[in-house]
Amino acid sequence: MRVKASAPGKVILFGEHSVVYRGPAVVLAIDRRVHVSVEPREDELLFVDASSLGLSGFFNGEKYTSLVGGSIGEERLKPIWVAAKGVMERLGRRIGINLSVTSEFPIAVGLGSSAAAAVATVAAVGELLEGRLISEEISLLAFEAEKVVHGMPSGIDNTIATYGGGLVYEKGREAEQLRGLGDVPFVIGNTGVSRSTGQLVGRVGELRERNRMVVDSILDTISRVAQLGRDALLEGDLLRVGELMNINHGLLWALGVSSPELDRLVNAALNAGALGAKLTGAGGGGCMISLAIPERIDGISDAIGRSGGFPLRVRVSNSGVRVWKEEDR
Ligand code: MEV
Repeated sequence: MRVKASAPGKVILFGEHSVVYRGPAVVLAIDRRVHVSVEPREDELLFVDASSLGLSGFFNGEKYTSLVGGSIGEERLKPIWVAAKGVMERLGRRIGINLSVTSEFPIAVGLGSSAAAAVATVAAVGELLEGRLISEEISLLAFEAEKVVHGMPSGIDNTIATYGGGLVYEKGREAEQLRGLGDVPFVIGNTGVSRSTGQLVGRVGELRERNRMVVDSILDTISRVAQLGRDALLEGDLLRVGELMNINHGLLWALGVSSPELDRLVNAALNAGALGAKLTGAGGGGCMISLAIPERIDGISDAIGRSGGFPLRVRVSNSGVRVWKEEDR
């Protein structure tokens, strides 16, 4: 028997980094997904085939043996192992698994690939073991996997990958679903520079240790921007959404998580007529997001391309994690 599952990537519109400490962030699921397929194997190994991402290898317990892609595979694929192990522990069963994972969007650039992979893995392994996990359990088990790679995640990435749509997420509170968003016209620009969320969250933490009062007031201002951004988005006031995105980018820059490549793409999008632009996700490379009016989308995409970035046109997706069985033919 084979089980397949998929979960969406995401963009954070407001509130990355501040959400790790307190306050809300606004996050949207995108119509690009991570797909996972699992089947049982005779031994107790976990074989992960991520060859489309240039990686594959075995986990024998915690020990990773690379077949393709070298040691970076251990870091990139470990959330999958933690997710699979967590489900088996939760359901009190242990089996060997062949797992293949593919992504419709670039990984390690702030679009939530690791959380989407963890969520899809939990759902797929849960179904393989006939565990009937509810969404909340899937998200929580994926959060445990996120903690292993990201150190101190807020939980935003696993939550959006589980539920999809648009959410106002705040730690320790029930997420608010943003309904009736329509087609928010945004263009993503990928710098092509991969980075580690855990390292960037750690870097902000160190800056905060050295400058507690200043950094806390920046984080509080970002939280306020996120609240206002949520209101503007729901009112359909895109001019204000754009203005607040620009302010949010400036505050993230002050926290040291922008990069020359990100700033170049943000400026290119604004010069091409974007209503607002900011880095999205942890920063340090990865992606930026710009808000467009529909007739400027092509011009903004071209400007991002001319400035060395990779434009990506995505839509908000209401579809969260999905899982289904494929009986052996
Ligand atoms: C990562 O997508 C967003 C961060 O705020 C980290 C987190 O919330 O876990 C940088």
